[in-house]
Amino acid sequence: MTDIRFDKDFIWGAATSSYQVEGAAHLDNGGLSVWDMFCRQPGKIANDDSGERACEHYQRYIQDVDLMSRIGICAYRFSISWPRILPDGRGRINQRGIDFYSRLVDELLAKDIEPWVTLFHWDYPYELYSQGGWLNRDSADWFADYTALVVDRLSDRVSQWMTLNEPQCFINLGHLDGIHAPGLNMGMAEVILAGHNALRAHGKAVEVIRNTARLPASISAAQANIVSIPVTGSAADIEAARRHMFAINEDRLFSNSWFSDPMILGSYPADGVERFAALMPEKFEQDLDAIRQPLDYFATNIYSGVHVRAVGEGDEVVDKSELPVTAMGWPITPDALYWGPKLLHERYDLPIVITENGMAHDDEVNNGKVYDRERIDYLYRYLSEYGRAIAEGVPGKGYFLWSLMDNFEWAEGYDKRFGIIHVDYETQKRTLKYSAHWYRRVIANHRLAEKEEPGQSSADDTAPHKA
Ligand code: FCB
Repeated sequence: MTDIRFDKDFIWGAATSSYQVEGAAHLDNGGLSVWDMFCRQPGKIANDDSGERACEHYQRYIQDVDLMSRIGICAYRFSISWPRILPDGRGRINQRGIDFYSRLVDELLAKDIEPWVTLFHWDYPYELYSQGGWLNRDSADWFADYTALVVDRLSDRVSQWMTLNEPQCFINLGHLDGIHAPGLNMGMAEVILAGHNALRAHGKAVEVIRNTARLPASISAAQANIVSIPVTGSAADIEAARRHMFAINEDRLFSNSWFSDPMILGSYPADGVERFAALMPEKFEQDLDAIRQPLDYFATNIYSGVHVRAVGEGDEVVDKSELPVTAMGWPITPDALYWGPKLLHERYDLPIVITENGMAHDDEVNNGKVYDRERIDYLYRYLSEYGRAIAEGVPGKGYFLWSLMDNFEWAEGYDKRFGIIHVDYETQKRTLKYSAHWYRRVIANHRLAEKEEPGQSSADDTAPHKA
């Protein structure tokens, strides 16, 4: 697999999110988010880190956009901090917050980089959380009103929109497991209700964008997908993987179907409704039409998969504990980028965009260089599999690397580095890692560069380069 090519119009991107990179928590009158408050609780975050300073992207965005341009990135996926522009979540507008995003969009466009805006990547306004957050039925309207404001201010220049990032994570990790903000351990009925209101919020936001955006809008919501991979190519194992991929396998909502089925197909998966029958929100069926809105593509964040095989009556997840893992402990399973796009396209019949993929690694700076061979190997192998799916007819339209730069990795704090740009958090110095140079060549050549050993090409070659 040495010559995987991508179309000239394939979208090569990189992603970040507001709380993870912006910092500037107390600048320019922004409001508090649930993440600001969660990080104040001792012991919740590794080293008691917080996003208060992060990468100072708020102050250094011009430099960051310049680095993107040097890498040749065609699209930047970033999120908007809701409380930065609406400090109370609704009502009072913070013009300075809006101005920041407006300047960022202008800067990107000036460098020929397309802005891909995510409206909600977990930094929920603390004030609205105090009024019930996602448990409050009004939360869907709060989100729609916030969306209307953003669309009013940015849709003359932005046409790419994502509503929610990974409902699987902020609902389960934040409301059930308590390891992400707002740090709750609620009962399943409340978890399901919070998820349901987030879905209603998505539906309303899509309608707002469609009805009010000035530029034609392309809309989706980014899902966290853990891919079920067949252990062999046998028809039985493939069928087992397909079943497992979309089944509700646990008493929680970390699922490949729970959120995307209502958004795209207009109903919750039947096995889930059966499993949670006594816990479903009252008259939930009446909301389903409003939740299902036409989407333009399927946005999927894929890092890993589980291997499945058919056994007699049922399916079995194969223990792959011997697989190599990333610094997050996530198994390295490149064919997740083959089976994920394939199975998701099959079920939802939408073009696919990988909106996150990448790896955490304990990178070190040596003589001003970061030779992250492991990350290049990871990216090469995952992208090869994605290319294979595309060659077989899966309409894969783009790929966003997580992440543009090292950043605040939620409960893991700053310990886990996902960037292709290294950030020294003391000095805020940015250093392009070897993987950034590798990615630049992939983008420029529309094909995967052979895996290279350090020294085979110049890691100092940062000349602006656009294909
Ligand atoms: C995803 C999140 C993103 C980042 C990566 C590593 O679940 O969307 O913010 O933390 O994982």
